Formats: sequence, C-alpha cells, structure tokens
Amino acid sequence: MTISLSVNGVEVATEIEPQELLLDLLRDRLGLTGAKRSCDVQVCGACTVLLDGRPVSACCTLAWEARGRDVLTIEGLAALPQFAALEDAFTRHAALQCGFCTPGMVLTVQALREQREVPADDAGIKRALAGNLCRCTGYKGIVEAVQELAAR
Ligand code: FES
Ligand code: FES
Repeated sequence: MTISLSVNGVEVATEIEPQELLLDLLRDRLGLTGAKRSCDVQVCGACTVLLDGRPVSACCTLAWEARGRDVLTIEGLAALPQFAALEDAFTRHAALQCGFCTPGMVLTVQALREQREVPADDAGIKRALAGNLCRCTGYKGIVEAVQELAAR
C-alpha cells in the first residue's frame, strides 16, 4: 500500500507493508536512524518520535497510522531553531553519555515545551520522562537540564 505523510516538514509518499512499523519506515526506508530500536515493546522510549506533536513509540506504531499526519524525528528537530536551547541545556548539564536514549529524551522534552507543560520540580520531571529510560547518566544531569528549560 502507498501512504502519504509529512516527515520533518517534507511531504513523503511511500510504499509500505500493512504490518510495517513506523520505526522501520523511518529507519529502513527513509534513512532516519535517530530513532533507536531497543526494547521493541514500548518500554524504553529510545524509538520516540513526535506524531502531530505528541510523543509516540515508533516501535509500536504502525506506519499506516501516520498517514496524513506530521512526524518529527530528532533529525527534523535538530534543524529547527527550538533545538538550540535543548542542545545547550543537555550539553552543559552533561545530560547524556552514550547518547542512545538522547533523541527520544529530547523529543519528549520538546513536546512538553510545545505544550508549555515542562515541570520544574524533580518529581514532576521524573514523571514526565518516565517513558524514556537512560542506562548511563543516573538522570541527574537530565533533570537539571529540564529544570533549566522550565525556567526559561
Ligand atoms: S524501542 Fe520502542 S519503546 Fe523501546
Ligand atoms: S546516555 Fe546512554 S542510555 Fe542515556
């Protein structure tokens, strides 16, 4: 089947298999490898992308569910002016180490910013990021970076 969707602001028409996952469409057909594959069962958040501005796990979203909708990946976000503040805060607070979780983490934070729902307290930040797991940082730097973004 053929579907049309917007990916990072570009209209795309592509062939897909009915059972194809959005993550496979992005990574294998479109070469957008910023969304990572890890658990494959909607637990880790490494595959997070924004679908009409809301975070979704691309590993558990069918590609056809994105037809006619807007998908934003980390590649698209990195090209937007809004990325600079995220990059600055994450870098200065050492909110990443291996970087595997970072695209999904940053996209989730961006969605919170767009909705003006960035929590300022530790507990709120941890709740808001509960769907994005990080194996490296211990979360301290991530929480600090989000706190700073909330204050801006
Ligand atoms: S790979 Fe999708 S949630 Fe873990
Ligand atoms: S920086 Fe390595 S998993 Fe988060």
